[in-house]
Amino acid sequence: MKDHPTTNAEYFDAARAVMPGGINHRYRWKLPHPIYVDRAEGAYKWDIEGRCYIDYKMGSASQILGHCHPDIVAALREQAGRLLLAADCHSLEVDWAQKICDMIPSIEHVRFVASGTEASMLALRVARAFTGRDKILRVDAHYHGWHDHTMRGTVAGSNKAASLGVPQAIEDLTLVCAANRPAIDAAVDGDPDIAAIIVEASGASFGSVPMAEDVLHAAREAADRTGALFILDEVITGFRWSPGGRQQLVEVTPDMTTLAKVATGGMPGGVLGGRRDVMAMLDPAVETRGLKPAVLHQGTFNGAPICAATACVMLDHLVDGAPQAHADNIAAALREGITSLMQTKDIDGVCYGDSSTWHLYFGEEFDGTHEVPAAVLRGFNPGRAAALGRALNARGVDLMSAMSGVTSAAHTMQDVDETLSAFGAAFDVLKEDGHFD
Ligand SMILES: Cc1ncc(COP(=O)(O)O)c(C=O)c1O
Repeated sequence: MKDHPTTNAEYFDAARAVMPGGINHRYRWKLPHPIYVDRAEGAYKWDIEGRCYIDYKMGSASQILGHCHPDIVAALREQAGRLLLAADCHSLEVDWAQKICDMIPSIEHVRFVASGTEASMLALRVARAFTGRDKILRVDAHYHGWHDHTMRGTVAGSNKAASLGVPQAIEDLTLVCAANRPAIDAAVDGDPDIAAIIVEASGASFGSVPMAEDVLHAAREAADRTGALFILDEVITGFRWSPGGRQQLVEVTPDMTTLAKVATGGMPGGVLGGRRDVMAMLDPAVETRGLKPAVLHQGTFNGAPICAATACVMLDHLVDGAPQAHADNIAAALREGITSLMQTKDIDGVCYGDSSTWHLYFGEEFDGTHEVPAAVLRGFNPGRAAALGRALNARGVDLMSAMSGVTSAAHTMQDVDETLSAFGAAFDVLKEDGHFD
């Protein structure tokens, strides 16, 4: 590197010289450049130029207590001085697993992995091993990580893989259905080779496509009827929607649950949990069809001590539901405030969402209450979304995934007021520039 960069724009130039697109995650790519975040505390983060943002991304929904919560940082410091990684068994992974089993009763046994993507990959392999079947039923636009097995159907309404490089043979094993009972029933009843039905607990993209509770019951019943397994993806909702995740609120019992983000204390990692007999596929003492264990699973960083240490602290904070309730109230105030701003400014649309999330919709087809296809809600105008993101960034607010936000226990009503001021000014700019014509 010749001259050390000092601005966001300079860092993006330098980044593009050494990384494809200058990024390490598809959605971090922004023009004219992303912001380069230097530090964060509570509800705020600061970029490399010293600009402060009220953060509604919150580490892709992983930092529910707020950035750098003192107890999380203390746990991390303590653990870092004791044991970073031996890649051996350690006592904290046992404490961590016990806490998860206590908070989510459908989880009897836990296996730690290194990300949410890995959790769903492992869940699908376990389901295939347990049932002896090959196919997976997934719901249109639901996200389960970036691996091959659920790539088909990631983009709403597409019914194909959202990436080159996914073997056709794998794509053919992935069936996609709409998020409703008749679609689930038709798919499972029409194919005896379905090993698992996997569903994102909130509805697609952390609830940006709201999903009726009945879909979760339908998946449970369809699995019971056909011998498939029901995998609930609670990577976002786990411990956030309630101490027991969305499954506690909806009173549904999946066979396996995937977790990450909050579940790993806001540190890199993931969790697969589920029924004891299903998880026994991973037990080296149990032989199934000639293999011990039936499912091979390894991973250097599985259950890493630094994740276990922070996760234990995180879960202790979340067990009574108070931080989640606070984050929910903040999100509700934002949803109400932004929707009423749209009305005042004569913009068709709504700010809607569940729990501690909020999503923007511009248009007339959806009012936040009735169901519309995922393709309508996810088919937003990218130029307008990017312009809104830039206008909000310029006023000290940063969103998640272009049209959404998540809140934390650290956000305050004053943050809500400041965010609404930023939205008011941003809407004016977008109107002047013809984005709502
Ligand atoms: C519902 C859901 N499942 C799975 C994943 C993948 O998790 P990770 O990014 O840790 O691989 C995500 C990530 O955002 C997610 O939102």
